[in-house]
Amino acid sequence: MEQKPKKIMELKNVYKSFGGVKAINDLSFDIYEGEILGLIGPNGCGKSTTVNLITGVYTQDKGEIIYHTKDGKLNLKDQPVTYRAKIGLGRTFQTPKPFSDLTVLENIYTVAMLYNKSMKEAYRIAEEIVEFVGMSDMADSKCAKLPIEKRKCLDMARVLAINPKLLMLDECLAGLTPAEMEDSLEMIKKINKRGITILFIEHVMTAVTKLCSRVVVMEEGRFMTEGHPNEVMKKPEVIRAYLGGDYQNADV
Ligand SMILES: Nc1ncnc2c1ncn2[C@@H]1O[C@H](COP(=O)(O)OP(=O)(O)OP(=O)(O)O)[C@@H](O)[C@H]1O
Ligand SMILES: [Mg+2]
Repeated sequence: MEQKPKKIMELKNVYKSFGGVKAINDLSFDIYEGEILGLIGPNGCGKSTTVNLITGVYTQDKGEIIYHTKDGKLNLKDQPVTYRAKIGLGRTFQTPKPFSDLTVLENIYTVAMLYNKSMKEAYRIAEEIVEFVGMSDMADSKCAKLPIEKRKCLDMARVLAINPKLLMLDECLAGLTPAEMEDSLEMIKKINKRGITILFIEHVMTAVTKLCSRVVVMEEGRFMTEGHPNEVMKKPEVIRAYLGGDYQNADV
């Protein structure tokens, strides 16, 4: 008998307004353990706000965000950002901001130190990660000198140092060439194979299709539909709302 997928995160009727702007408006969806879930939708529909609510940058006005841990369900309301990172909620930023004066290895080590009991253990973890992301040959280079794709790779490496269970990637491919994008997609697959669940926010649909077997589509702060990327892209409501009716020609 097929095993029922286990939830890792649950958003239940979540609301968040900024002044008069209803950024998140009764949003509900689940993320399952081990998947790469795509989160898509038109500009301003609330994708980044969703990540900011899950990671605790913002607090929802109403509704629940529930994290399923091995010790049971945890309602994240009122839990600070640092605690959420500690219990495995990681994210990258569209514009990576490494500690420029430090080397690649030192950057990863610094983050690892915050989340590990001993400096020795943190160093071991940093060395393992630098190799995992393929940056061993530049481990001692200062970050200020790194090109954008390497900075993005380092951003991924730094978040791995918190030992995430759920990793949220908000437009992590932006600014990359097609070849660099391919490398990034391979890296994300590799990270997922480590057992890390991924929430993948991206406008480039070819990338979403390559990576995700399920996508959630948002519209105006709420859940619109979900399914396999290829199936979802055929739905009239998605074509109409998300792609302006011209999705065959749109690299959204
Ligand atoms: N800190 C804020 N203050 C005021 N309004 C905000 C804030 N953050 C987001 N918003 C508004 O909330 C809505 C959702 O924004 P959000 O950035 O979550 O959308 P998005 O789906 O990530 O868009 P994009 O695809 O362009 O990145 C938008 O109308 C945005 O202007
Ligand atoms: Mg965004």
